Order: sequence, then C-alpha cells, then structure tokens
Amino acid sequence: MKLVRENILEIEPYQPGKPIKEVERELGIKEAVKMASNENPLGPSPRAVEAMREALREVNLYPDGSAYYLKRALAEHLNVGEGNIIFGNGSDEIIRMIAETFLNEGEEAVIAQPAFIIYRMAVKVMNGKPQLVNLRNFTHDLVAMGEAVNEKTKLVFIANPNNPTGTMVTHEEVHSFMNKIPEEVIVVFDEAYYEYITRDDFPRTIDYIRHGRNVITLRTFSKIYGLAGLRIGYGIAREDLIKDMNRVRQPFNTNCLAQVAALAALKDKEHIERSRSINRGGKDFLYRALDKLKISYIPSEANFILIDLRQEAGGICQNLMREGIIVRSMGIYGLGNFIRVTIGTAEQNEKFIKALERVI
Ligand SMILES: Cc1ncc(COP(=O)(O)O)c(C=O)c1O
Repeated sequence: MKLVRENILEIEPYQPGKPIKEVERELGIKEAVKMASNENPLGPSPRAVEAMREALREVNLYPDGSAYYLKRALAEHLNVGEGNIIFGNGSDEIIRMIAETFLNEGEEAVIAQPAFIIYRMAVKVMNGKPQLVNLRNFTHDLVAMGEAVNEKTKLVFIANPNNPTGTMVTHEEVHSFMNKIPEEVIVVFDEAYYEYITRDDFPRTIDYIRHGRNVITLRTFSKIYGLAGLRIGYGIAREDLIKDMNRVRQPFNTNCLAQVAALAALKDKEHIERSRSINRGGKDFLYRALDKLKISYIPSEANFILIDLRQEAGGICQNLMREGIIVRSMGIYGLGNFIRVTIGTAEQNEKFIKALERVI
C-alpha cells in the first residue's frame, strides 16, 4: 500500500537557487556571486541587524505569536487595521495557508503559466485543481484568466510583477478583471516586488479590500527589505478572511528575530531608497549591456531580468556557475532558452556580463 497521498506524488519538490557555499564547495571556486533568488544585493538594513543583536538575548522565549509591534507599525504604514494583517514564515507560508483555509478538495485555482511555482504546489497539497492559463506577451492575460473562472473556481493567483517574467498588469486591466469575476472568488495579488515599482498605473489592490472584496494582497520582507533568510512576509485582507486564516496558522510561525528585524527595516527609509536606486541603476546597465551583445530580454518592473538566450540555457548556466556566477535556468518554468538574473550591485552586474560574454 502506498503511504503517500496520490496528489502529493504529483508535486515536484521546489528547487531553489543554489546557495553560494554549495556552489563554491562543488566547483572548488571562491567568491561566487548569487544572482539567482531575487535577494537584495545590498544586504539587510544595518538597523535590522542591530535590532536582532539586541533581541538575541531573548531567543530562549517563544516569539510573540501575534507579532504585536510589527503589526501595529505595518498597519499604520499601510493605513489598514491591525485585524487586516497576517504574517507568515515568508509569503510562501501565507500562500500555503490560503490554500489550506479556503480550498476544498476538487475546487479550482486559476494560475498563470508560467508564474510563481509555489501557488500550484499549495493547490495540489489541498487536492485542488490548478487551472493554468498561458501568459500573453510574457504577461498575465487577465482576460483569459477571467474566462477560465467557473463555478468551481475558489482562488485566482496573480503575481504582480510576475516571477519569472518581471512583467506587471496595470490598474485598468485589474479593474476590468475584478468587474467581471464573481464576488465569491478570492483573488490573491502577490506583490512580493511591490517596493520596486515605479509606474503609476500599478493597481492599488488594498482598495479592493477596503471596498469589501475577497482580495488578499501579499507582500514580503524578503526582497527590497533584504531579510529573505529570516523568512517573514505578510498578507492583507478583510478582517474575516484574516480570522479564518489564523485558524490554520502555526502559533509561532514568525520568529522573534524576524519580527524585530522587519520592524527596523520597515522604518529604514534610507536603506530602501538606496536599494531602489541600486536596482534602477543596475537594470539600466544590464539593459544597455545586453542590447550591445544583441541578447534579448523581457523589460522588468522588479529586481530581476528574464533573458532569452535563444539556445538551451541549462548548459550556459552551468558554465556561468564555473565562472562564479549563479543564475537560474528557467527550464522548470517551461522556458528552456531563458535565464533569470537578479539585478546585483554594479560590480556584480559587470562580473555577470563579462562572464556571459565568455560563455556564450
Ligand atoms: C512572486 C513571489 N511571491 C512570493 C515569493 C516568496 O517570498 P517569501 O520569501 O516572502 O516567501 C517570491 C520569492 O521569490 C516571489 O517571487
């Protein structure tokens, strides 16, 4: 008799970007640069590091399960009620909690293809059915996604900007999508890269929550705030939806160091601005360098660029790794000719371009 549930067998374990130390160990190289997981190349805010240093003395105690201080500060920052916020061990955990809380067996979730892989996994864990809708011009096709919604649909996931493409859907597109789909469907806007957005036609999804719609907006401290290793993200939704999600939340799901670091990072405007500016400058540099090399790419609203190598990218990734540059090949997303590169510091970006020139 098989012990594992059938639907679990349909899930492939998630393969994250390789850690720097692992690559260095395997290839016998030093000073590898990781541009594979869309982390902040500037590191964490120094204020977050200091806050953690002070909190270290208290790691014998369980964390505050309600994340009181962080929640209060974030509610003020977002201009929402404290009851509208839930924290997760990364926004990954909130995606899982959404599926656990709302998805009955056999119900459907509309997801773009390719989009962030964790949505599909969370849906499969609950024995739900992912309805995959192809991107159009590398962007969520909200018209087609709206058409894929039927009476079995419980959830829609929209990564905005999308990972791995870096593209965004606009306020207008979201507006007409929201007008068309039934009120009962829960729409999850995953805005992990929100703080990098510069366009003013980006949708204001929290307004839908204020107007009582079944919307959950996800954001994270892993990207611009530079705290990916601490695992802390958050969801914003109507109070009743948050209450329901709290029924499945592990009592101490965000740890005490993550909470104090996130609070300090939220307040460190200077670090956020520097991060944004490094990203902008790095993106311009990479666009120009790629143009010069006649390599095409998808213009990005986030802190990474999807690059079309027009040839199988797996081997090129391996060769880049030997040059000390870790990037992600996009085969798992069905984009075998593409790599996704996180925008690094000026020095890292130059190193990447030089290595790319050598291996291509
Ligand atoms: C679109 C998207 N959502 C969520 C996440 C997960 O973020 P977290 O570190 O908060 O779990 C990522 C991470 O790469 C992402 O790209």
